Amino acid sequence: MALYQTRVEPKPSAPSIDAVEHALRRLYIAPSDEPGRALRDEDRKKVREVTALLEEVARIGRRRVVVEAASGHAYAGLLAAQLCSGIEALTLIEREPDRVAHARAAAERLGLIADVKEGDVDDAALWPEHPDLVIGLHACGPASDAIVEMAIAKEARWLLLVPCCYAKTVAFSAAAEARAEAIGIPRQAPIRRAFIEALIDAERTLRLEAAGYEVTVRELVPRSVSGHNLLWRCRKSGEAGRMAAARAQLGRLSEQ
Ligand SMILES: C[S@@+](CC[C@H](N)C(=O)[O-])C[C@H]1O[C@@H](n2cnc3c(N)ncnc32)[C@H](O)[C@@H]1O
Repeated sequence: MALYQTRVEPKPSAPSIDAVEHALRRLYIAPSDEPGRALRDEDRKKVREVTALLEEVARIGRRRVVVEAASGHAYAGLLAAQLCSGIEALTLIEREPDRVAHARAAAERLGLIADVKEGDVDDAALWPEHPDLVIGLHACGPASDAIVEMAIAKEARWLLLVPCCYAKTVAFSAAAEARAEAIGIPRQAPIRRAFIEALIDAERTLRLEAAGYEVTVRELVPRSVSGHNLLWRCRKSGEAGRMAAARAQLGRLSEQ
């Protein structure tokens, strides 16, 4: 399926912040074109996040089949399809009907044929097989884990994941709480929370490494832009030694 209804020239690989702001404004903020309208703070933050994420997308060689999971209004997926060359099929997965409708309308305004799926990210039937790239930007709590599992199950070549809140519904949260109790981490919230979040981050990282991903974790944007600013950049490499080491580490992490 061709992504574009009409032929357009390939765009530069790593779009500038100005290009992202312009595209975001045209697509979401003022589609009827109010060029003078000031952006809100949250719009400016979104522009910075999406620009930083699209730099990562542009670094990925083959990116024909792309999924944005827990896509919301699908800023990242739709702007990647518009501004980065080489994306031929885009699937968006989102469970909130109004956001799905919003994303569909935005895709239509762009003239893109995006496969916008309404449903839960843990529904394997919504995912294409062997995607080149899976994007999860601010995937809430357990949605980040579901995206990790689906990226592994569908053998995604790349995963770019920016997790969001660390709710008690995150699967590893109970084990992390138990470990905090066992080794005497105090209950003062900032200390306890930092420890729990570090264990959840560690478990996700090791789970991806055990499944054959080479994982780097870094700040996508400064914390002043978003409190949830860590990017998991994961490339499927299938390196057997690293997988075995990660499995062993995961076992130790999960021991009570
Ligand atoms: C914080 S928003 C981020 C949206 C978008 N990725 C962005 O950065 O603007 C999280 C989105 O994930 C969706 N979501 C959360 N859990 C989900 C799940 N299990 N399946 C599908 N969508 C989910 C929410 O409805 C929401 O639209």
